[in-house]
Amino acid sequence: PKQPPTVFSWVPLLGNAVQFGMDPITFLKDCQKKYGDVFTFTMVGKRVTVCLGADGNQFVFNSKQSLSSAAQAYNHMTKFVFGPDVVYDAPHAVFMEQKKFIKAGLNSDCFREHVPMIVEETENFFKTYGNSGSFDAYEAFAQLVIRTASRCLMGKEIYNNLDGSVAKLYYDLDQGFQPINFIFPNLPLPSYRRRDVAREKMAELYSSIIQRRKEQNDTDNSDLLQALIDATYKDGSHIPDHHIAGMLIAVLFGGQHTSATTSSWTVLELAAQPELVKALLQEQIDKLGSVQADLTFDNLKDMPLLEACIRETLRLHPPIFQMMRKVVADKVVFEKYNLEIPKGNHLCAAPGVTQIDPVYFDEPLKYNPYRWLEKSDPVHQMEQGDDANIDYGFGAVGISSRSPFLPFGAGRHRCIGEQFGYLQLKTIISTFVRTFDFENLNGKVPGSDYTSMVVVPQHPAKVRYTRRA
Ligand code: HEM
Repeated sequence: PKQPPTVFSWVPLLGNAVQFGMDPITFLKDCQKKYGDVFTFTMVGKRVTVCLGADGNQFVFNSKQSLSSAAQAYNHMTKFVFGPDVVYDAPHAVFMEQKKFIKAGLNSDCFREHVPMIVEETENFFKTYGNSGSFDAYEAFAQLVIRTASRCLMGKEIYNNLDGSVAKLYYDLDQGFQPINFIFPNLPLPSYRRRDVAREKMAELYSSIIQRRKEQNDTDNSDLLQALIDATYKDGSHIPDHHIAGMLIAVLFGGQHTSATTSSWTVLELAAQPELVKALLQEQIDKLGSVQADLTFDNLKDMPLLEACIRETLRLHPPIFQMMRKVVADKVVFEKYNLEIPKGNHLCAAPGVTQIDPVYFDEPLKYNPYRWLEKSDPVHQMEQGDDANIDYGFGAVGISSRSPFLPFGAGRHRCIGEQFGYLQLKTIISTFVRTFDFENLNGKVPGSDYTSMVVVPQHPAKVRYTRRA
């Protein structure tokens, strides 16, 4: 087999990093036109082989652990933020156990308690807004989601300290989790030092919280922290405190920015189509009798349009549009194309490209949640691949990686926060819709900013609101 075609670049070392960094979707689509679904480009010395299309997704996400590794692609930077012995810094089997614990801690019993908490946070947050005005969607929802995610996941002690020292710890960690840190994971600069100090302080803080909960027999908590305190590894050992701290930091990073940007994109898309806002309000009235009725875990399950809106946001604005693995075997062979990718290359799946490919979606750039409510929804049919029933041990069974729609990834590294993410988003959006009528300032949805860790709306991302009577 031959190697995939290489994308031309004028600058040998930097390669296509600038094009990829500024507008990756346009860059990848242009390359696809020239080179087909599989091609290699250079980014600051790294060789990245992009595999597009549903087959490309399957090839990357279903690749064997002995052939390609997520840890090798991510750990050089994540270990500084999450700390040692967790996630990509743990042996693969241990990380899979850790994912199982997190998944088990995010169960229906907890979700039942989470919904009223998220409603309360959202109502309190928007109480400070006047009867009408405008606000920046991403800034607002990032602040709100810090509160909702911390309250449901990180534990009451951390949540109660959000306006105190924890805010600074979050901020310093966040400054160490930027795209630049992938290229330069560790430099002798103040921001790197602050990141390391914040991680150590966070681990100490969790240690003291765990200690206190144990001493005071404070065990009746519906947060993820308690689930991790109560869990044991296969060998019977309790999870060490620094693993718990690391997992919770990872969860915060996995869940916070993704949900913050998705809620802001949803509100921005809805604001451009006032008839959708009306339809969402009507759905609540039809299902619950009135918008005064409490939102609950059970009644939120039965809101198809609301769910379709979130799904459509994740199709058009996936927070994580590409995912990487590093080839660790001598080579991997992409049989469909008879191509061979050498050791050391990165494999890149890009659901952000397949999700707007007209091969899979009619009028792909149009925000149309109703496409998910039609019987002929093409994605559901495509999702039943051969690999749909592999059990990776954390409950990802039944989702094939041969799908064009994979905002949560697929295979052994698939997201375990999807259900919590949907629940949090549905609760926030439905509370927002019943509180305000809203529209865009200029009728347009902002473009995408690809320069942060997740894809966020470009400034200004203003929404005009009027409080409902
Ligand atoms: C993995 C997206 C919410 C925790 C992933 C991956 C994606 C993703 C694309 C796969 C990464 C890869 O294959 O390289 C999202 C989106 C979310 C979301 C779009 C919300 C809208 C959450 C939440 C949590 C979480 C709320 C925690 C409670 C994780 C974890 C992994 C993961 C632990 C596993 C990483 C691995 O196995 O390598 N997520 N996520 N995510 N996510 Fe999420």
